[in-house]
Formats: sequence, C-alpha cells, structure tokens
Amino acid sequence: MSQTATPAPQQAAPARRNARDKTWSNPKGLDLTPIKHNVWGAERPFIWNTIDVGGRMTVIKLEDGSLWVHSPVELDPALQQTLAELGPVRHVVSPNYEHVKYAQQWIHAYPDATAWACPGLKDKKPDIGYDRTIGTTADAPADWPREIGFVWLNCERVPVLNQAFFSEVVFHHEPSQCLLCTDVYWNYPRSAPPKTQLWKFGMDVVYLPIYRNLLVADAREFDKLLARIDAWNFNTVVPCHGRVVMEAARDKFFAFLRRGVIGDQP
Ligand SMILES: [Fe+2]
Repeated sequence: MSQTATPAPQQAAPARRNARDKTWSNPKGLDLTPIKHNVWGAERPFIWNTIDVGGRMTVIKLEDGSLWVHSPVELDPALQQTLAELGPVRHVVSPNYEHVKYAQQWIHAYPDATAWACPGLKDKKPDIGYDRTIGTTADAPADWPREIGFVWLNCERVPVLNQAFFSEVVFHHEPSQCLLCTDVYWNYPRSAPPKTQLWKFGMDVVYLPIYRNLLVADAREFDKLLARIDAWNFNTVVPCHGRVVMEAARDKFFAFLRRGVIGDQP
C-alpha cells in the first residue's frame, strides 16, 4: 500500500433520523459521528454495572462504495436508515473475542454481507454464523478490501490455559490514515462522569499492567507485530473505548502498548 496518501476533506455524515441522548460516550448525540473522510463512529453508551463504559463501532466507506463495519453496536432502525444512505453494508467485522454481542443481529440484517471473525472466534462461538476468519496469516483473502490492512496480535496467552485472551486483530485504513483497535488500547477522557472515572482508574492502574503481561507473553513476537503496525501510515487512532486520538496518535499508541503509558485526554 502507498505511504503517500493524502486525506481528503472530512465528509459530513448524513442527517440523523433520530436525535440520541447526549452522553460522555456520544457527546454529539448522533447516529454516526464523522471522524475523517469516509470514516464514521457509531458512539454509544455501553452500560456495565450502571457504569457507561462507552463503545464505538467504526464504519468505513470503501473505494467501491460499500460499507465496512468494525465492532458493531446495536442495530436499530435509525442507524439502519442512516447506513442505507451511505451505502450497502458488505463487511461486518468482529475484531476480537469480546465485541461480539451484536454480531448475529447484523448477520441477520445484512445476509449479503460477509461476516468476518477474528482467529478462533468461529470455533469459540459457532452459533453466531460467521462466514470467514481474518488474520491467521498476513495475506488478505481475495474478497477482503484491499485498502484495509490488518495485524493479528497473536502473542497473548492466558496462563495455564495457554489460549489467546482477546485474539484481537488491529486494522489500518490506508486512505484515511486511521488505525482501528478494540480492547488493546483505550482512551477514556478525564471529562467522563465520576463512575466512568472509577472505571478508567481500574483500567489504567489495575488492569493494564495485568493485561500487558498477558499480551506480551511472547515478547519477540509482540515486537514483530508492533513493527508491522509501525510500518503503517497512520496519524489517527480510533479505539472502541474512549476518544479518537488525532494528536501525536502514533506516539501515544506505541507508548501505551510498549510501556503502558496512558495518554492525557481531557
Ligand atoms: Fe471492549
């Protein structure tokens, strides 16, 4: 892929059909929030034990005009209508073992789309109905969109079980210079409500060191995988949890993964 792509001006999302509640996790209250040209986030509250931990699905309009959907959130009529105005949904991606709650709903709603699973997920959850697996090799399947690169973080192991923890695949959209990640990186803002701040503290201070030890079970492999990501041309990180990172995104992403350094997001 070219390393010289210049992002086009940001394209506005279509008008929303229904205003949504404005929350820290969806501050504009939109069905789809523009991120970059041909890239939108469906930002939604995700309630865990009364705490809004937030969740973002990312939608990318591909060069062929179809839509590629990463980590789907609940599909309701308003979102479905908004998507229909953008283009046909052709790819639905479950990027790790955790973000699968709504996958089957999307598979039923878009039977002509290809449902992609991270490695191991088809066997782990056979009832969902995935079509294909992405990431077990560095080569993309023939029907995979050529403008989206991927790296499977195949370096994590749960002790004793010797299994992958998240089996996460990280993606790169070359035209927009966006990196997409799910649970290996998060960016909760300091402006989030108190209960979410408590969650952030737990994630940043308690969970992150534990997860890094799981993630970096094979340090040499981890370095190789990060080197592949480092070769991508990106200036924006789009996480599923927390704010999109547009300033010093590369530095923040690698500092987080290599050293567990939390970015300072207002
Ligand atoms: Fe998550």
